[in-house]
Amino acid sequence: MQIRRMTEKDLDQVLIIEQQIFPDPWSRKSFEYEVTQNAFGIPLLLEKAGDIIGYAIVWRVYEEFHIANFAIKPEYQGKKIGTQFLESILSLRGSCKFALLEVRESNDRAIGLYEKFGFKTILKRPRYYRNGETALVMQKIFSETPQTVNK
Ligand SMILES: CC(C)(COP(=O)(O)OP(=O)(O)OC[C@H]1O[C@@H](n2cnc3c(N)ncnc32)[C@H](O)[C@@H]1OP(=O)(O)O)[C@@H](O)C(=O)NCCC(=O)NCCS
Repeated sequence: MQIRRMTEKDLDQVLIIEQQIFPDPWSRKSFEYEVTQNAFGIPLLLEKAGDIIGYAIVWRVYEEFHIANFAIKPEYQGKKIGTQFLESILSLRGSCKFALLEVRESNDRAIGLYEKFGFKTILKRPRYYRNGETALVMQKIFSETPQTVNK
C-alpha cells in the first residue's frame, strides 16, 4: 500500500467512495478547495496496486491536527487497513500538540478505532449532523513529536 497526495484528477473516484459511505458526503467543491487551495490542508490517498482504497483530509492548524475526513473503501473495511492508515496519518502531525475530530455517535467502528489510538471524547455536539445526530468531539494529546515528518 502506498500513500500519496490527492490531486484534482483523483476526485471522480474519491467522490464515488464518499457518496457510497457518508450520509452527508462532502461536495466536489469542498474536495477541490482541499487539493488546490487550503494552505493548512493535507489531502491524502491510500492506494493498492494503483486503486484508491482510502483517503483522508487533515488540517495542520498551528497546535491542532484536525482529521476532517477519513475513509476506507467499503470492500476494504474491517481488515485493519484503517488502523495502518491512521497510524501513518498521525505521523504527519509535526509539532502539533493534539489531534481533534468529530464522529457520529452511532459510528461504533470509527469510535473503536480512535479509542484504540488514545482518542477521548471531550464534548458532544447535539444535532451536529443533518439527520439530527450528535457528534462526539474526540481528542488525542500528543506526548512527543515524531522523528520523521513527511508532508
Ligand atoms: C472507520 C473506518 C475508517 C475504519 O477503518 P477500517 O479499516 O474499517 O478499520 P480497522 O479494520 O482497522 O479496525 C479498526 C478498529 O475499529 C474497531 N472496531 C471495528 N469494528 C468495531 C465495532 N463494531 N465496534 C467497535 N469498534 C470496532 C476496533 O478497535 C478495530 O481494531 P481491532 O480490530 O484491532 O480491535 C472505516 O470503517 C470507514 O471508512 N468507515 C466509513 C467512513 C467513516 O466512518 N469514517 C470515519 C468518519 S469520522
